[in-house]
This record gives sequence, C-alpha cells and structure tokens, in this order.
Amino acid sequence: MDKFVIRGGRRLQGTVVISGAKNATLALMPAALLASGTFRLSNTPVLRDVATMSSLLISMGMQIELKDHVLMLDTAQVNKQEAPYEFVKKMRASIYVLGPLVARFGRARVSLPGGCAWGPRPVNLHIEGIRKLGAEVDVKRGYIVAKASKLRGARIHFDISSVGATGNVLMAAVLAKGTTLIENAAIEPEITALAQFLQNMGAKIDGVGTNRIEIEGVGELHPVDAETIPDRIEAVTFLVAAAITGGKVTLKCVRPEHFSAAAAKLRDAGCTVSVGESTVTLEAPSPIKSVDVSTAIYPGFPTDLQAQWTALMTIADGTSVVTDTIYFDRFKHVPELVRLGADIEMKENAAVVRGVRQLTGAKVMSTDLRASASLILAGLVAEGPTEVLRVYHIDRGYESIEKKLEGLGADIERVSGEEF
Ligand code: UD1
Repeated sequence: MDKFVIRGGRRLQGTVVISGAKNATLALMPAALLASGTFRLSNTPVLRDVATMSSLLISMGMQIELKDHVLMLDTAQVNKQEAPYEFVKKMRASIYVLGPLVARFGRARVSLPGGCAWGPRPVNLHIEGIRKLGAEVDVKRGYIVAKASKLRGARIHFDISSVGATGNVLMAAVLAKGTTLIENAAIEPEITALAQFLQNMGAKIDGVGTNRIEIEGVGELHPVDAETIPDRIEAVTFLVAAAITGGKVTLKCVRPEHFSAAAAKLRDAGCTVSVGESTVTLEAPSPIKSVDVSTAIYPGFPTDLQAQWTALMTIADGTSVVTDTIYFDRFKHVPELVRLGADIEMKENAAVVRGVRQLTGAKVMSTDLRASASLILAGLVAEGPTEVLRVYHIDRGYESIEKKLEGLGADIERVSGEEF
C-alpha cells in the first residue's frame, strides 16, 4: 500500500488541468450495456474506480480499452448479467449495472453493496424504482435478483433525491414500453450528462436537468461517442489547496457553473475567484475567514466537498460549523485532522471547527476518498512532514493528485511499500 509524504508550507502557484468526472464516467460506462456496438468516451479519467468498473463490465463480456484518456467499449459480446460481490464491495457504483441489464436483457443479479466506511448507504430507492417499472425483484443471499420480460413505463416519485437511483431508473426506463415519469429526480451535472448521453443514443427524454424527467421508451438504442464532463469535485479540491496554502492557482478544462456554490463559499472566505469560460483562478487572502457550510443536493454545496472544506476551516480565522445533511456520519476525517492539531468538536452531523494558527505534521490514516483529500490538504499547510497512509482511497477518485500538486509547487511524494 502506498503512502504520501508531504512537507507542508509551500504556497501553491500555477495552472492545473482538471480531469474528467469520476461520477459521470461511472454512469456512462454501464449505460453502454443498453446498446450493441462500439462506444468511445473521451476525457476519461485514469482512476481505480474506472478500472474497477472496467473489470466488472469485462466480466460480463464487454471489451474495454483505455488509451490516452479515451475509453473504447465494445458491447457486442455481452453475455453475462451478473455483478458479483468481489466488484460491488470495492465500489458501490457497480449497482449502476442493474437498470441497464434488466432493460436490455430482462435479467440481472447484482450483489447488494452493503455499508460504506462512514455509515449505511441504502439502495432501497434503486430497487423500488426498478420494481415500479414492472421487474420482479428478490433480495436474497446478499444479491438483488431482477427479472422482467419487458419493463413498462411508470410514475416514480423519489422521497429522497438520489443520484444513483435516478441514474438507474433512467437507464432502465429508456427501453421500457410506454412513458416513465421520475419526480424529485436528482439534477446533479453527472445525471444530466447521463441523460444527454442516452439522448444521443436515441432515447426520448424530456426535462433533462430538471427534477421532473419524462422518458418515452424506445425499442432500441445505438452506440455513440461522448466527451466526459470535467470533475467538479476535483476542481474545487484544487481551489481549496490554493486557498489553504495562501496561493494562487488557475484551473483549466472546467465547467465553472457546476461548482458555483463552492465558489461562492470560497469568496465568503475572502478568496478572489475569477471565472472564465473553462477556467477559474483563485487567489487566497491571509488569513482565510471562517465560513459555515451545510451540504445539500445540487446546486447546493456537495457532500463530496465537506471533508475538504472542514480541512480549510481548521486554519481559518474564527469558528465555523460544517454540517452534512446528506450523509450524517461522514466525518471519519475529523479525528485524523485533530491528530494534525485541528480543534474540532462534533455535534451530531456538524463539525464545529475552531481555527488554529498552525497545524503540525503527523501520520494519519485515509479512511475514504474525500477524507483522504482533506488530509492531503491539511498536510500542505502543516509544519513538518505529514504521512497520509492508505492512499489507495485517493487513487479511486483523483488522477495523479501528487503529480498535479507537485506541478503547483507542493512537496509531496508517493512512497510505495508493503503495509503502512
Ligand atoms: C452519489 C455519488 C457520491 C455522492 C452522492 C451524493 C456517484 C457514483 N456517487 O452517490 O459521490 O456523495 O451521490 O451527492 O455518483 N438514499 C437512500 N436510498 C437509496 C439511495 C440513496 O436512502 O436507495 C439516500 C442516501 O443514504 C443519501 C441520499 O439518499 O442520504 C443521497 O444519496 P445518493 O444521491 O443516492 O448517493 P449515491 O448515488 O450513492
């Protein structure tokens, strides 16, 4: 397992190119199951999660090749409709194969994902949605087993706005007979990207980008080429890296409108944020001001940036409250930030962060993807070396983060080893 050794104190400066969005790629890849032929996805990020999704789809008979950020998927030989536990336990997004498999092949056997490092993450809405479309769904021996000779359109109202359940139902409904209405659909950019991808494949979808999506099922879809949207979470993580180090960084290849809530919070913290068409530049003040944040569904402040914001607030001037309303328990990074000298008290689903003058380097443990990002950010300003252990978590969702940070002037090194 690799670790990162970071010697903090460098002010980050320069330009960084943001990669394609992990969460969009993980939705587009299984969507390819819906048609026979060759798909070409450009701007695909090189990530562990993309490799895991590739292995899963290859196990079903797909042929996949990733070269120069272009992912080729050939679906002509798909002959297995199963997502075994070995894949799903590594990555919950594996459940995205459920909808397309039932829609195209009339059957699917998908392992239940189980919990996540930071707490429970149910999939009841995915199952209910597929059932409403007429599939017979059994949950037995740890697997979701779904069957349907032909899915039928239905009216589906989600009590909770769910990215994954919206994506799964959308992928199932495009080949169902008749009309499907999804109410309280997720409107995250990755879902909009998926809907547009499906439209290009020949799907009939109205209300794309809104929380009321209407789908008129079609008999057949065809393969397409697409370019993956930029990763808004990676983008803001680099803005926070600039902010926490008192630096000035320009992001290239981004869609600034996808992270305007986070940009507004960075401005509230005293940063100057200048927005171009596909670039954003952040110049940090000294010191950073304390700003409360509460996570929300899009276009609100994303839960996937909560840990990074908590890291930024550890060195801000004053006290802030960082609340997660999406995942109440998503605070595994807090005890690790405290090991770096942060002053944080947990009150239910909120972290009360009292800014300190200086963090101090220590060995800390990654527990999940975004928690790892927050520890790297803290390490960038800590005095003395910080060792972030178990960086395989970060490799799931950030492409070459250490190289990108090095390019901005950070002192960060990946050290390979047996067990840290
Ligand atoms: C996706 C993202 C993840 C992000 C999350 C919230 C991917 C691959 N992952 O995860 O990075 O943190 O959106 O923006 O895109 N819920 C239920 N029942 C369900 C499904 C969800 O109760 O069947 C609840 C969840 O517990 C959570 C809320 O709905 O409280 C939102 O979760 P959801 O949007 O489904 O997250 P994911 O799609 O798993």
